[in-house]
Amino acid sequence: MTLPDFTIADIPIYGRLILAPMDGISDAAFRLLTRRLGSAYSVSEFINTLDYANQKNYQKKRLLTSTEERPFVAQLLDNDAVRMAECAARIEEEFHPDMIDINMGCAAKSVAGRGAGVGMMRNPKLVRDAFALVSQAVKVPVTAKMRLGWDSSSLNFLELANLAAENGAKAIALHGRTGKISFQKPARWQPIAELKRAFPNLPIIGNGDVLTPADARRMLDETGCDAVMIGRAAKANPWIFSWRLREEVSLQEVAETTLWQFDEMLANDPENAIMPFRKYLKAYLDPCQISRETMRALLTCGDETLLRQSIIQVFRGLGANL
Ligand SMILES: Cc1cc2nc3c(=O)[nH]c(=O)nc-3n(C[C@H](O)[C@H](O)[C@H](O)COP(=O)(O)O)c2cc1C
Repeated sequence: MTLPDFTIADIPIYGRLILAPMDGISDAAFRLLTRRLGSAYSVSEFINTLDYANQKNYQKKRLLTSTEERPFVAQLLDNDAVRMAECAARIEEEFHPDMIDINMGCAAKSVAGRGAGVGMMRNPKLVRDAFALVSQAVKVPVTAKMRLGWDSSSLNFLELANLAAENGAKAIALHGRTGKISFQKPARWQPIAELKRAFPNLPIIGNGDVLTPADARRMLDETGCDAVMIGRAAKANPWIFSWRLREEVSLQEVAETTLWQFDEMLANDPENAIMPFRKYLKAYLDPCQISRETMRALLTCGDETLLRQSIIQVFRGLGANL
């Protein structure tokens, strides 16, 4: 029997790379793909528990999963600890996630402004209540995903990690930016090392600006974190979870993956697959030499049969055997 790389509460985790939750990107098909390629577990796109309480259908789609994808984590986003706890209990009963994560990182104005996401980092009482109440409401482990703080004058990740852990958090993912630092500025990894040193017995997951397998290795080595979460770089290179650069992936594999993902997205959501699929199609084809006209034709095609045929044709033209 192979030993897990680490555990979260009593859940064995195999692997040190994890797909970061990404609204509009980490859907069920993409998560399953990355799990098959080596991502150690899956986290849902955020579930706005206010919308969930109002029975918004789209929130439930985000909890679609399969046995193969487990461990599967449902991520909650809100500014109300009681509503989060009620929602966590309902999600646990209906969808049986293996863990519940609390989003303390989303910096969108509409979210942070109402005190949810990274807005939670300005409100230690909410952090304490959310972890305490959600941990009481569910049987599965609760985890946190946070930033360094609200802004550079309030770097309180150590204090809030402590509050979260005291109130039940079993792992902490840290994105090395504050809520006010844009993606244009580099993420800081040193605080990830500080967090690991402060909590040697708690799984710490580092996140921010891991673009290549070498970056992932470096973050693990430099910070001592237990695992690395990879977000934006995974969209064009899901193979990063097999420790491969995009250039190391054969055209044949890219072609087969593209078709598989399209079919899987169609199976999951037949009415609404084409639009969200386009961003992956573009990302997968960008490094290939195809004309602008061909790319435009693919990205504007609204008919699934025609699109499938066109994708096959384009990849055959590039040399794939389909
Ligand atoms: C398009 C997009 C959507 C995101 N959605 C979420 C989300 O739903 N929940 C969350 O915790 N973080 C979300 N994030 C943040 C990522 O999980 C991650 O922390 C961030 O992108 C930094 O990692 P990276 O440098 O590897 O991309 C999102 C990021 C992007 C780019």
